[in-house]
Amino acid sequence: MILNASGCLDALTAPDVAQQLDCFVTKTVTPLPRGGNPPIRIAETAVGMLNSIGLANPGIDRFLVANLPELAALGLRLWVSVGGFSAEEYARSCALLDGRPEVEALELNLSCPNVEEAAESAAQIVAACRAATTKPIWAKLSPANWDIAASARAVEAAGADGLSLVNTIRGLALDPRTNRPKLHTATGGLSGPALKPIALAAVFQCRRASALPIVGMGGVWSGRDAFELLAAGATHVALGTVLFGDPGAPTRVAAELRAELARFGLECPRDASGIAHDHALSFQPPLLL
Ligand SMILES: Cc1cc2nc3c(=O)[nH]c(=O)nc-3n(C[C@H](O)[C@H](O)[C@H](O)COP(=O)(O)O)c2cc1C
Repeated sequence: MILNASGCLDALTAPDVAQQLDCFVTKTVTPLPRGGNPPIRIAETAVGMLNSIGLANPGIDRFLVANLPELAALGLRLWVSVGGFSAEEYARSCALLDGRPEVEALELNLSCPNVEEAAESAAQIVAACRAATTKPIWAKLSPANWDIAASARAVEAAGADGLSLVNTIRGLALDPRTNRPKLHTATGGLSGPALKPIALAAVFQCRRASALPIVGMGGVWSGRDAFELLAAGATHVALGTVLFGDPGAPTRVAAELRAELARFGLECPRDASGIAHDHALSFQPPLLL
């Protein structure tokens, strides 16, 4: 399954892009409306993009009455990304979304580098949300966590149904004319190509530590990138920063992934999931005679 990464696509302004996906994930919704951080909040680097959006969103109450019905009208499979500043806030939003049949699953954003973190651990937040909803819960973890495998085990024990790996990692870009930070907030979240090896390592380690399905994301630009995340242990793949420059990316990456699977004699993405762990499958180049 190919999804978008939360915050990287607005299905209401670009429904044609969203329709190419197997499932749409919303921007993170917080209990109260947020305008986000002041501009400048996007900066290019040589190896990816920095953002410090700061979870700009309409807040859960407005989301439920305005955005959700509009999204549902598009006929997409829908995951809602939930954010908050305490376990209680996350759980309240999950409870509100629990009664909405148009929502297939909830992704808990436990890892935004641009806002204050809740005091509770990821596992405590998952446990509070587990008690508030029967919908599948995907825990989105930070690649800045040195022992991400331990977090994966903890959220699994707390009742998560899946892992979303990874969010952005903190970075800084300087303006070459002023030598000052490009972003208003100075630091921001780095996404794009630089994140791919970090995402691969996180997926690889979590696959070893946990039996949960994994949405892999971070720097996916091609079918090969998607294949590698599957090989490392992902069961699904999400596209983020690539969508800003290539609105046809979901269709293109899906086609490239099919070709990459075929190159290894594999029928479907599930067959590729985790193959980097067993060393049994390797490409045999044709003999040059
Ligand atoms: C502009 C922007 C906004 C984002 N907003 C969110 C968000 O609201 N919630 C969230 O969980 N992740 C958010 N992310 C992180 C992405 O979902 C994804 O984890 C990250 O960008 C890595 O994937 P990529 O390298 O393919 O972009 C955002 C990323 C970008 C670039």
